[in-house]
Amino acid sequence: MDGNGRWAETRGLSRSEGHREGLKATRRAVEFFANRGAQALTVFAFSSENWQRPREEVEALFDLFVSAIEAELPELIERAVRLRFIGEREDFPEQLRQRMTEAENATGVNAGMTFVVALGYGGRWDILQAALRWVREARNGEPDFETFESYLSTAGLPPLDLLIRTGGEQRISNFLLWQSAYAELCFLDVLWPDIDETALQAALDVYARRQRRFGCTGAQLQVHDA
Ligand code: FPP
Repeated sequence: MDGNGRWAETRGLSRSEGHREGLKATRRAVEFFANRGAQALTVFAFSSENWQRPREEVEALFDLFVSAIEAELPELIERAVRLRFIGEREDFPEQLRQRMTEAENATGVNAGMTFVVALGYGGRWDILQAALRWVREARNGEPDFETFESYLSTAGLPPLDLLIRTGGEQRISNFLLWQSAYAELCFLDVLWPDIDETALQAALDVYARRQRRFGCTGAQLQVHDA
């Protein structure tokens, strides 16, 4: 969800106002993907590296997350969306951690789309914590890919099909590194607060035109499809 800061700065607003506008865009994205039957939508709301931002921006983001969880919960329940947080939450303020746990518990039985919010998340952190847990917990043998995936924070989620980055940058910035091995990447020039149905549909259209070969040849896929 890149571009909140630039969106605000070009309007002479504070970066926090950009994040507040970004929250509205997040709401539009959840609605868009839930209406199209997506099984899961994951947003990168705070990376492990975002801790390095100015203290006041980090605190304003935490306040926004607390009020967003409170404000959005009834709508998420109404839409049968299951909320899940991934990332290292240990250093978050107690109030935020509490809201996160309450929201996960309140939506845990919902059968609709899973809305995953990555907070304090980093792809390298995820792989490392999975490896450490496996070493601590696994008793026999070496993990295969499937077993290892069950230790990642995204365990149980469907494979990542499409990774969209807004804001014009073309990099993954430590998002779902393991999970994006065969994801289609789509980079949009739109700043996140400007995200709307047209831009999201454009990303889905790009995805629909891609041929996903997973290491096979195009001819092999044709035989398989026939
Ligand atoms: C990156 O844009 C955006 C963030 C670090 C924060 C994103 C958070 C939200 C949109 C709120 C969503 C809240 C919930 C609970 C899901 P940037 O600040 O790096 O933008 P820039 O590249 O223009 O500076």
